[in-house]
Amino acid sequence: MHDYIIVGSGIAGLYTAQLAARAGARVILVTKEAVEECNTRYAQGGIAAAIGAEDSPAKHMDDTLVAGAGLSDPAAVAVLCEEGPARVRELIELGVPFDTHEGEIALTREAAHSARRILHAGGDATGAAIETTLAGVVEHTTVDVRPWTLATEIILEDGRAVGVRTLDARTGERSAVHGRKIVLATGGAGQLFQATTNPTVATGDGVALAWRAGAAVANLEFFQFHPTALRLAGAPGFLISEAVRGEGGVLRNQDGERFMQVLHPDAELAPRDIVARGIAAEMVARDSDHVWLDVRHLPAEDVLLRFPTIARFCAQYGLNITKDLIPVAPAAHYMTGGVITDLHGRTAVPGLFAVGEVAMTGVHGANRLASNSLLEVLVWAKRLMHAPEWPMAPATFPTTFEVLEFAAGSGSQPFNRRSLQRLMWRNVGIMRDRDGLQQALNQLLAWHHAQPEPSSVAAYEDANLLLVAMLLTAAALQREESRGAHARTDWPHPRAEWERYLGLVKQL
Ligand code: SIN
Repeated sequence: MHDYIIVGSGIAGLYTAQLAARAGARVILVTKEAVEECNTRYAQGGIAAAIGAEDSPAKHMDDTLVAGAGLSDPAAVAVLCEEGPARVRELIELGVPFDTHEGEIALTREAAHSARRILHAGGDATGAAIETTLAGVVEHTTVDVRPWTLATEIILEDGRAVGVRTLDARTGERSAVHGRKIVLATGGAGQLFQATTNPTVATGDGVALAWRAGAAVANLEFFQFHPTALRLAGAPGFLISEAVRGEGGVLRNQDGERFMQVLHPDAELAPRDIVARGIAAEMVARDSDHVWLDVRHLPAEDVLLRFPTIARFCAQYGLNITKDLIPVAPAAHYMTGGVITDLHGRTAVPGLFAVGEVAMTGVHGANRLASNSLLEVLVWAKRLMHAPEWPMAPATFPTTFEVLEFAAGSGSQPFNRRSLQRLMWRNVGIMRDRDGLQQALNQLLAWHHAQPEPSSVAAYEDANLLLVAMLLTAAALQREESRGAHARTDWPHPRAEWERYLGLVKQL
């Protein structure tokens, strides 16, 4: 019997695992591919924390609440911003090599931050530096790390999570592990959409596992689209960090003109949803599949020093970012909602925690502030180490619950992941309306009804994507307003009656 079973090996899984192991707990960590294959590794911009002389947790809190468009829970945001600086210092002590300037930690700016408060490493390789450091830390603990092991089901006994069923991704062998505390740290679900900055492992596994176990989910309708992913024939949707705009990069349309300043006083540094929609509108208006990101006016040596990963990646496709315009377009980036947790990471299912992108703590509201996600992981991972026994604490933000049932059926529509991604992009993407959402939900249900029992990793991932797509679409259909990352052409404004979370729970 383990004390902790941790599912996932990004920052959330590794950070939680080393905290638990260093406190003397017996820990097993399962992850469906190699340890380093996770969203964290691709995070560029950095980690936000109010550590600068001119900054304060109160300012960080204000910015987070503004970006969250009325749906960030002030109690959760206060925890994040007040405890964040100490957690970041601990990360530095663990050995993460954050960039420095004249002997001090270098801090950059990103959209909707009122101060320079983003720590970064390797210029634009922050996630990779954190992942490598934490993997090294975990290696020197007693954590039993099992790569290529997919969690297929949470084992419940009398309503309590007591273990995880697994499938060996290489041999197909099925097994089970038991433990007192199960921690979902499975990251996001960018693979729901045709264009995404996420790697192929981001298939919403944790939300699906938690939902099937009876946990409540919320805010999936606020899936965040990053404004600037590379849009180049033959290249993947590689992230072009918001920090590029933070350091002075500007957006231009096909006529070479800037367009963001007429949409928001902060222009390219407006909140992420506004920039993404501004770019999307510009693309439609000019019948183009991209706009341009321009850093040619910045000193070339600074650009190369600050953004070596981006420069290297673009160079593979013949682009010199110091001389050429960079073609960019929005892409699905971050699952803002997820499994509802309290301020200690507890879900509604006793014994089951969620931490990181898979969780909905209330911090991000309707639109996550850039670089708050890595910080949220550190803060909640530490808190879950000291979580009281269940029941989870009552919601600290207005929440209504709705019971949903996706009955099994006997349909015959064969499912195909690419078709799902296209459907989600077209009907549940940056702009939505009732008819498109309803049409998408009907199609998803038809696929769901024809789903066979999964037997391979890919088939489990498909089932998970399908389930998360249904939850996201059902929530987007119900939320008759536009707010943050959820934009409906038929309900173009925020509405007071929707200043609440819509929690979804399974019929038990
Ligand atoms: C970026 O570097 O633009 C991504 C940062 C984030 O998603 O928080």
